[in-house]
Amino acid sequence: MVDETRVHSARRYNYWLGGKDNFAVDRESGDQIAAVFPTIRTTARENRGFLRRAVTHLTTEGGQRQFLDIGTGLPTADNTHQVAQRNAPDARVVYVDNDPMVLAHARALLTSTREGRTAYLEADLREPGKILADPTVRDVLDFDRPVTLMLIAVLHFIDGTDQARRIVRTLLDELPSGSHIVLSHGTSDYADAETHARFATMAARGKLDAWPRTRDEVRSLVDGLELLEPGLVPVSEWRAEGETGPRPTPAEVAVYGVVARKP
Ligand SMILES: C[S@@+](CC[C@H](N)C(=O)[O-])C[C@H]1O[C@@H](n2cnc3c(N)ncnc32)[C@H](O)[C@@H]1O
Repeated sequence: MVDETRVHSARRYNYWLGGKDNFAVDRESGDQIAAVFPTIRTTARENRGFLRRAVTHLTTEGGQRQFLDIGTGLPTADNTHQVAQRNAPDARVVYVDNDPMVLAHARALLTSTREGRTAYLEADLREPGKILADPTVRDVLDFDRPVTLMLIAVLHFIDGTDQARRIVRTLLDELPSGSHIVLSHGTSDYADAETHARFATMAARGKLDAWPRTRDEVRSLVDGLELLEPGLVPVSEWRAEGETGPRPTPAEVAVYGVVARKP
């Protein structure tokens, strides 16, 4: 059931990206966060740019053909399968999200090429075992071949770094050598004392649903994996040489991105 009275991160993100699939409650929460962190729309756009560049790199130079995209978000421009299939028409993508509104819009995610496949699963990242065992996931993705696990701007909705690490481990343990993870994650590493204090006040009032992590905490989520160049960096700096126009500073973006390979 789509609940118009509760803030949903997918709809709030859609609002920041300039989309129309959001309600007053999402816009109000989006504006409250923007009042403390005014460049949040830049953050959202840069995060999408990272997704596009990472999937492009993995499908071209990396030869990857299978993607498990958990925390998909509402359809927007350049969804994972569109980026992947532009370079590799036979690419397969399974989208997973726990927001009923994303399910309601999933048709836009199922526009696969004839050579490839896409599927959508309504499931919760906090139950990784269920995702891995789901017949749709098993039908579309061949777990004997490399799979790219995409956790883009979703792990910061999981409370507790131990829990986040456990979830990532459970998912990666099931994937063969040569699989990859594409991860982006909010951070307050660049925030000044005043911004920290204002976010802390919002959190204490129950107005914040995300848990930003430090660079070391995000790094610990991909321990044991081989980091692709340039390593763990602000998303705006991940292979962004081809981006034109003025680039935002790391502090304006405040999201780390990393792509890593399972040895
Ligand atoms: C900020 S959006 C990111 C969307 C997309 N990955 C991107 O980076 O453009 C976060 C998404 O994660 C989803 N999400 C949050 N918690 C989740 C959970 N526990 N299980 C599955 N999806 C979740 C939200 O519904 C939302 O669609």
